[in-house]
Amino acid sequence: MTFENLQVNIENRIATVYIDRPKKLNALNRATIEELHQAFKSLRDDKDAAVIILTGTGEKAFVAGADISEFSEYSVGQGKDLAAKGQEQVFDYIANFPKPVIAAVNGFALGGGLELAMSAHFRIASDNARLGLPETSLGVIPGYGGTQRLPQLVGKGRAMEMIMTAGMIDAQTAKDYGLVNHVTTLEELIPLAEKLANKILNNSMQAISAAIEAVNDNYKDGIDGFETEINNFGKSFGTEDFKEGTQAFLNKKKPNFN
Ligand code: COA
Repeated sequence: MTFENLQVNIENRIATVYIDRPKKLNALNRATIEELHQAFKSLRDDKDAAVIILTGTGEKAFVAGADISEFSEYSVGQGKDLAAKGQEQVFDYIANFPKPVIAAVNGFALGGGLELAMSAHFRIASDNARLGLPETSLGVIPGYGGTQRLPQLVGKGRAMEMIMTAGMIDAQTAKDYGLVNHVTTLEELIPLAEKLANKILNNSMQAISAAIEAVNDNYKDGIDGFETEINNFGKSFGTEDFKEGTQAFLNKKKPNFN
C-alpha cells in the first residue's frame, strides 16, 4: 500500500499505520482522512494483518488535530458533512474494526488526533504525549466523536472539564484518567505496542472480533449488548478456534489458532 500521508508496514501479522505529515504535526487533512479509510478497508481483508498499531511519524505528534487551514472557511453544511463523513469513514470504522486496533500516542494527540486515538480499541502513550480537545478554543466543538467517546472513557465530569477548558493533559494524567492504559518512553512505545499485539496474537482472532462487537454494542443506542454477547458466545461454539482452544487446554498443549 502506497500513500502520500500514511506509511503502512506489515510484519509478523502486525500492521503499523503511521500518520505521516510530520511538518504539519500529522494534522488530518481531507486527503489523510481518505487515505486512512482506504488503508483500513484494505487491512480488513488482508490475511497478513491481524492486529493494527496506529501511530504518528516523528517525535512530536501523534496527530495535532483536524487540519485547521482546510476548514476555516467552511459553511454550516460543509462543517456538518466534514464530521459525518469523517465519523463514518474513519472514526466509527476504526472503532468497529473487526481486528484489534491499538493507538500508540507518540506526542500531541489533540482534537481529531485524540478522537482518532479514542476510536482505537485501546491506547498507550509515550511520556511526552499531550492530549486534549481544544476545539472550543477555535469556536467549534469536537466533531469526530469526541463528545461521546471522551465521557465514555474518562467520565462525564473530566470530559466536560477537558472540553470546556480546551486544555491538554500529560501522559500520566491520561493514564490516571483511564484514557491510556500504559505510559512508556518514546523509544519503548512501538516495542510495547508490538509486545501487546503479540500477546493478542496468541488468542483466537475470531473470538476477539466477536468480543469487540459485543463490547461496542454496550455503547450503541437501541442495541442490547447482553443480547450480542449471548449470540456471539453461542456462535463461538461452532468455530474451529473453539475446538482448538478447548482441546489444547484439555490436552495440556498450547493452542494453534488459524
Ligand atoms: N491544523 C493545521 N496545521 C497544523 C495543526 C492543525 N491542527 N497543528 C499544527 N499545524 C501546523 C502549524 O500550522 C505549523 O505549520 P507551519 O510550520 O507551516 O506554520 C506546523 O504544524 C508546526 O506547528 P507549530 O504550531 O509551529 O508547533 P508548536 O510546537 O509551536 O505548537 C501545537 C504545537 C500542537 C501546540 C500547535 O501546533 C497547535 O496548537 N496546533 C493546533 C491544535 C488544535 O487546535 N487542534 C484541534 C484542531 S480541531
